Amino acid sequence: MIQIKNLVKKFGEKTVLNGISLDIEKNKTTVILGGSGSGKSTTIKHIIGLLKPTSGEILFDGMDIAKATGKELLEIRKKIGFLFQSGALFDSMDIFGNLAFPLNEHTKNSKKEIEKKVFEKLEIVGLVPKEVIKLYPEEISGGMQKRVGLARTIILEPQVILYDEPTSGLDPITSDLISRLIIKMQKELNTTAVVISHDIAESFKVADKMALLHKGRMILKGEPNIFRSSQDKYVRSFIDGIS
Ligand SMILES: Nc1ncnc2c1ncn2[C@@H]1O[C@H](COP(=O)(O)OP(=O)(O)OP(=O)(O)O)[C@@H](O)[C@H]1O
Ligand SMILES: [Mg+2]
Repeated sequence: MIQIKNLVKKFGEKTVLNGISLDIEKNKTTVILGGSGSGKSTTIKHIIGLLKPTSGEILFDGMDIAKATGKELLEIRKKIGFLFQSGALFDSMDIFGNLAFPLNEHTKNSKKEIEKKVFEKLEIVGLVPKEVIKLYPEEISGGMQKRVGLARTIILEPQVILYDEPTSGLDPITSDLISRLIIKMQKELNTTAVVISHDIAESFKVADKMALLHKGRMILKGEPNIFRSSQDKYVRSFIDGIS
């Protein structure tokens, strides 16, 4: 579905991605692992065209994203939900407004349909709609903001969802809930998912495929089992959490 081919990204003199390739398969969940600053967020920002490659290409259903026109890029972005690392809720809007926003922007849904979808998505992420819709982002906890962010990400029912550290900063129970949601979304809506994480336990719960970024390269990629059994020193220290 999405192919990253020989992607190189430099910021000034600094090479962050030094020729990475990755196939993101349809209806599967691919987890990208890597230390802080290894280039995980940089990688997925290329998938929605927020960053342009220094060289290499990113193909979405065969179309080169870096060469897409503004209109083509908009069409692609409609199919992709992006859960930003920061949550990225609009502070000036209440929760209802935050969730209704993409529907108002991209659909001709009636008020009633919008309300139905907002309530439905809040329930999916385990929130009680009536209790939260009138609150503002600053009035809810970080974990709730993540869930609202996720509800907003899925509101247009995208084919692909990119999750940038969906469980960071969350307690183990909420993290587990988010991981279950990722799995549920993939099963029920047939989504293709890319999950960025440094939470190893949560990664193994959701991953069909894994890829580990280190020093600008994908040093290992494949099924979770090859990560469990790898004898590579860096892979081991990453998986065992002693780095
Ligand atoms: N727009 C930018 N301009 C300059 N440097 C950048 C830019 N975006 C990212 N970088 C640099 O690229 C490197 C990788 O950043 P990135 O955000 O992709 O890391 P990450 O793997 O997502 O880390 P984390 O786990 O901490 O989120 C960092 O050294 C960062 O400073
Ligand atoms: Mg990041």
